[in-house]
Amino acid sequence: MTIGFFDSGIGGVTVLAESLRRLPAEDYLYMADTLHVPYGTKSKEDVQIYVLEAVDRMIRQGIDALVVACNTATSITINELRERYSLPIIGMEPAVKPAVEMNRATGKKVLVFATPLTLQQPRYYALVSRVDEEGIVESLPLPELVHYCEALQFDRKIMGDYFRSKLASYDLNNYGIVVLGCTHYIYYEEILRELLPPHIQIVDGNVGTVRRLMAQLTRYGITADKGSGRVRFMCTGDEPEYLAKMQTALTLLQEAAVTPVSSE
Ligand code: DGL
Repeated sequence: MTIGFFDSGIGGVTVLAESLRRLPAEDYLYMADTLHVPYGTKSKEDVQIYVLEAVDRMIRQGIDALVVACNTATSITINELRERYSLPIIGMEPAVKPAVEMNRATGKKVLVFATPLTLQQPRYYALVSRVDEEGIVESLPLPELVHYCEALQFDRKIMGDYFRSKLASYDLNNYGIVVLGCTHYIYYEEILRELLPPHIQIVDGNVGTVRRLMAQLTRYGITADKGSGRVRFMCTGDEPEYLAKMQTALTLLQEAAVTPVSSE
């Protein structure tokens, strides 16, 4: 059993880390589309082509299930991927639904961080209009954040200033939850935790995604406990240094055992 994980870059490694925690006996193939990262500031048409090309390449390598560990790619290509391939395909969407449920009692608003492209998609509008009966969901695109993440910019001062400038016009007392609706953003959970008021919870969709993966594997009868938890990294640009970067990111996430949040 090999589970494929796909993202534009290193964001999906956060989901892979969660999957390895819960499904340690499976084998994994992780593909980053380094030739085209970031997706979130490109056109829908271009991203669609990039995702299909990269996933075709993964399919040729042999995978038994696919996790699209990217909210942006999911919002644009998930239907087409499911039509094209018969294997189980698990997508990701900003964890708006659990956030609205968790937040209900507080009477405060929910703020969703995601890429501009994710927030422009009909899939996102449909999600919000389905779950946001009280009109408490607001969205904030962070177009620069994937660039910072890919450049491994985790300096607390620089990134703290970045987030503060993005949030300058918000009265954070009115918000109860921030949703990290892009897998790259999860690397900034700790920095955000330090600057957001303590009453604000930070949630992401990683745990929920891995739970859906587990349910699908059971449904298709393809869970394996014979694998070794081996992870093979690939990237569309075939850069050896990027493969090392992904391995380092995974090791750090595993050491930190970060479970930033939970849509559990
Ligand atoms: N990691 C991706 C997501 O979850 C997007 C990154 C990008 O813009 O390339 O949305």
